[in-house]
Amino acid sequence: MLMNILAIETSCDDTSVAIVTDGSIILSSIVATQLEHSAYGGVVPEVAAREHIKHIIPVLEEAFRVAEVTWDEIDAIAVTEGPGLIGSLIVGVNTAKTLAYIYNKPLIAVHHTEGHIYANWLKKNLPEVPTFPLVCLTASGGHTNVIYMAKHLNYKIIGETQDDAAGEAYDKVAKMLDLGYPGGPEISKMALLGNKEAYRLPITDLTSAPKRNEEGFLVNPKESLDFSYSGLKTAVLNLIKRVKADNESLTIKQKEDISASFEFTANKIMSRNLARAVKEYKPKTVLLSGGVAANTNLRKQVIEELGDYKVNIFIPDIKCCTDNAAMIAAAAYQHSLIDDYCDAKSLVPDPNLKLI
Ligand code: KG4
Ligand code: ZN
Repeated sequence: MLMNILAIETSCDDTSVAIVTDGSIILSSIVATQLEHSAYGGVVPEVAAREHIKHIIPVLEEAFRVAEVTWDEIDAIAVTEGPGLIGSLIVGVNTAKTLAYIYNKPLIAVHHTEGHIYANWLKKNLPEVPTFPLVCLTASGGHTNVIYMAKHLNYKIIGETQDDAAGEAYDKVAKMLDLGYPGGPEISKMALLGNKEAYRLPITDLTSAPKRNEEGFLVNPKESLDFSYSGLKTAVLNLIKRVKADNESLTIKQKEDISASFEFTANKIMSRNLARAVKEYKPKTVLLSGGVAANTNLRKQVIEELGDYKVNIFIPDIKCCTDNAAMIAAAAYQHSLIDDYCDAKSLVPDPNLKLI
């Protein structure tokens, strides 16, 4: 029997509701993006919460209108439990709890990152689904991880950022260049016209230095799968100061070249770590996920870097990379298959929810 899940995602600044069949076929996926934050160059939590309250019911109605289903055809409700902004999460969780209570539907709580990973199960044209074991790079404004999965819903974090997330670095560099928010798509547009070799930026590597063993020989340690983006951010800040010293403000060409050099470097750190993970863990499949996976250059760089390995690479459609509720429904479907439901009366959002 087909299973229709209605999912709600409000962890940051996108209000989204989706209706998805069997965790893969999108009947509707509505996202109301809050434009109010662009003036501030970042998400203002208080504003985000208020905007979610305004948008949630119209977005819910639109999801039903587009999907052309009724409440009778909904089998379960799913919601992002965390992590995220508490005021934003409360709106989604409370809406989901209320709907589950009124319509007497089972409720499924989903971790936001888990949703990003499962965006790879949302069907495109191919009937193919990712096979295990797999390695997933998940990069967004809040997290940057390499995750190993031996089977569904089984996560082992094998690499993580030690400071900033990749998406945050994109957003901050965009701000330094007076580009809009969110920064990722803006940098990407500028980079298209720039020269990635114009400036050299640090490709951070957290692998420790070789150590001497008992016999006195130098031994290379295991290559690190962790990330660091704060140094790259500072390097761009210093580069801008240096370039600006010659002329008052940056020219468009300079902004394009800085964007291209930054984009290449930020993406190289991710594609290199992914290649290291593939070498070490020998997965059958590699997944990209999270808002940064919408970056066309990252998609290309990863495919190139993994060219020598025998792995299937899955990348969600661009619109499924950034926050959306369809991905939450895709993850929730796997929970439903093992009867992992939660109590609608007691569910509370957790802004610091851990994946494992
Ligand atoms: O997953 P997401 O929508 O929200 C979070 O969970 O954070 O990711 C948003 C992040 C932002 O930092 C945004 O700048 C980045 O993803 N992003 C991109 C692109 N589109 C969105 N970064 C690089 N290139 C893009 N095309
Ligand atoms: Zn996200």
